[in-house]
Amino acid sequence: MTSPLNAAASGTFKVGGEIEINRLGFGAMRVTGEGIWGPPADHAEAIRTLKRLPEVGVNFIDTANSYGPDISEQLLREALHPYPGLLIATKGGLTREGPNRWTPKGDPAYLIDEAKKSLKKLGVEQIALWQLHRIDPKVPRAEQFGAVKQMLDEGIIAHAGLSEVSVAEIEAASAVFPVATVQNRYNLVDRGSEDVLDYCERESIGFIPWAPLASGNLARPGSVLDDVAKALGATHSQVALAWVLKRSPVMLPIPGTSKVSHLEDNVAAASISLSDDAFAALDAAARRAS
Ligand SMILES: NC(=O)c1ccc[n+]([C@@H]2O[C@H](COP(=O)([O-])OP(=O)(O)OC[C@H]3O[C@@H](n4cnc5c(N)ncnc54)[C@H](OP(=O)(O)O)[C@@H]3O)[C@@H](O)[C@H]2O)c1
Repeated sequence: MTSPLNAAASGTFKVGGEIEINRLGFGAMRVTGEGIWGPPADHAEAIRTLKRLPEVGVNFIDTANSYGPDISEQLLREALHPYPGLLIATKGGLTREGPNRWTPKGDPAYLIDEAKKSLKKLGVEQIALWQLHRIDPKVPRAEQFGAVKQMLDEGIIAHAGLSEVSVAEIEAASAVFPVATVQNRYNLVDRGSEDVLDYCERESIGFIPWAPLASGNLARPGSVLDDVAKALGATHSQVALAWVLKRSPVMLPIPGTSKVSHLEDNVAAASISLSDDAFAALDAAARRAS
């Protein structure tokens, strides 16, 4: 029997104009330990969660070498290698010094070396999508973009993206290599990247909002979000995710979890049909609250 849960209900997008994915993806940051450090508390459940992804139509998975570090990439390999029909996107450019501690490191040789290590950890010949996790302010950005171009030219990576960037930074990078995706924090109540999203939509760049489930104060009883959720028989975070998906055809949300039941809740949001009126009411309420 076909599972009624299917991320395909979110529609599709072609990363770099080439690799077709279902728009609702998965963030593999949460399958690590507290503070995104070390192994997950429940290894078996983390593996079950990852193995469930293709069964529910999720074929776009975001990770990074700094998640764990290394743990997330290793778990993906353990659960899903050789990744039939899946796009595994990873990132590099941050070092880890302990739980919740992250430091940008953008020396070109380091970036290339780390991407080659991701190849080995994931067990692939080429990384389908590699994203510069942060532009390191200590290193000229042209050198970091040059390293990305070199990785594309050498075939280490097939497509490249950026994370936490402005429109000006995307334009500067685009002069050096084709920017396939941009990954910025964005959700119903955190709209600081509207200009970046609009730019990505115009340029057919995939926009990957992280923390897509957040709904902040809007989740209180009696709020617009609460009313819409009740009317749809959905949770607040499912409605927040459905709103993000409806916002733009280039939107590729990657909600993350370490639990099968939460994954299934999130994938169910792909099938929620939010009316234009509900979308607009949520938008207005979120803007008033911010
Ligand atoms: N580029 C960047 O700088 C950057 C930064 C942060 C994250 N990311 C990426 O974005 C992805 C998503 O971001 P995020 O993890 O911060 O935010 P998120 O996906 O909005 O939220 C994840 C949190 O919500 C919980 N959760 C998930 N589904 C749930 C459900 N159905 N019911 C109740 N709780 C639920 C998770 O805990 P449980 O495990 O208990 O479900 C986790 O604590 C990450 O996995 C990572 O790939 C990128």
